[in-house]
Amino acid sequence: MKALSMGKILTIADLKQQAQRRVPKMFFDYADSGAWTEGTYRANEEDFSKIKLRQRVLVDMTDRSLATEMIGEKVSMPVALSPTGLTGMQHADGEMLAAQAAEEFGVPFTLSTMSICSIEDVASVTSKPFWFQLYVMKDRDFVNNLIDRAKAAGCSALVLTLDLQILGQRHKDLRNGLSAPPKFTPKHIWQMATRPKWCLDMARTKRRSFGNIVGHAKNVSDLSSLSSWTAEQFDPRLSWKDVEWIKQRWGGKLILKGILDEEDARASLDTGADAIIVSNHGGRQLDGAHSSIAMLPKIVDAVGDRVEVHMDGGVRSGQDVLKAVALGAKGTYIGRPFLYGLGADGKRGVTTALEIIRKEMDVSMALCGKRLITDVDRSILA
Ligand code: FNR
Repeated sequence: MKALSMGKILTIADLKQQAQRRVPKMFFDYADSGAWTEGTYRANEEDFSKIKLRQRVLVDMTDRSLATEMIGEKVSMPVALSPTGLTGMQHADGEMLAAQAAEEFGVPFTLSTMSICSIEDVASVTSKPFWFQLYVMKDRDFVNNLIDRAKAAGCSALVLTLDLQILGQRHKDLRNGLSAPPKFTPKHIWQMATRPKWCLDMARTKRRSFGNIVGHAKNVSDLSSLSSWTAEQFDPRLSWKDVEWIKQRWGGKLILKGILDEEDARASLDTGADAIIVSNHGGRQLDGAHSSIAMLPKIVDAVGDRVEVHMDGGVRSGQDVLKAVALGAKGTYIGRPFLYGLGADGKRGVTTALEIIRKEMDVSMALCGKRLITDVDRSILA
């Protein structure tokens, strides 16, 4: 695999290649994997290329703008960073760096419950509110405590993930022996030894470990108790009633993540959520499910304008964002693209990922004959 200088990085695929060179295999694979056959993971990306744009000419293309709003917050473009667990293993302080890059770019950052840096770590390096993603664990005191911490840190939206009541299986992680917390075997040590830049970078920073959980969840005081706690904490009994309880406890903007079915989308209307994210967890849960972009128009049609619809899964370019917006998404999210950026070059890499997407979206929108992202609708699709 050839090393690219950061100046030669022109696509998200280039960033991915660079990240693969720098990040130890078990952590790169953790990001770059899907459940079972990875069919849904692949479909998320491939289905975007089946959607064609209409090329228009001789329309005024000056004064373009990608600025819009997601859940009433101003964004420089309709792209947020997805919540991703273990982000701090792609690059030390990964969550803090990604949050700073997103803030400077004017797009939302979403911190995962399963992050390495804590809510408080991220709040200490950002000046604008970020979003917090919640997994509902069986330990409800812990969940209440997390909600309160997110409120105290000034988070402006709670992203409640609904599609992980039980864990999907990723073969790559099992083969690599990846566990939370990581257990280091001679194979892992070899993988790290061949990635000196990553090792140096990790060594330079203060040790942070699952800061949202360790020291806050019952009976979890160190990394060895974390592993068994996490494995049995996802709640298979989670129900729509729990969503009501969480909405009440939180009291702020609520986004439901992981809706992939029209019936569930209609059911979500009763919760009074501010937005839903059409998502299959980046193909990491139900392999064999439809891609998010294939389900997006059906879900938009099912809920109309009664709730804001966002989507994630397979967004790898500005054109992909444009297509999702054309099909009715008020916002999109990128998971792996920002992780590749982080792995490749820390904060600068995340900014590069956002910049690539911004530029592609801007030019494509113009060539479709539109000046404002807020004017983009199904008419730009062939
Ligand atoms: C995720 N995702 C995820 N979602 C969530 O709600 N909480 C989490 O902790 C995680 N963790 C996580 C880790 C990694 C490495 C990945 C790749 C994904 C899913 C994520 O929020 C989002 O739905 C997908 O990443 C979107 O798909 P793309 O952009 O990665 O294709």
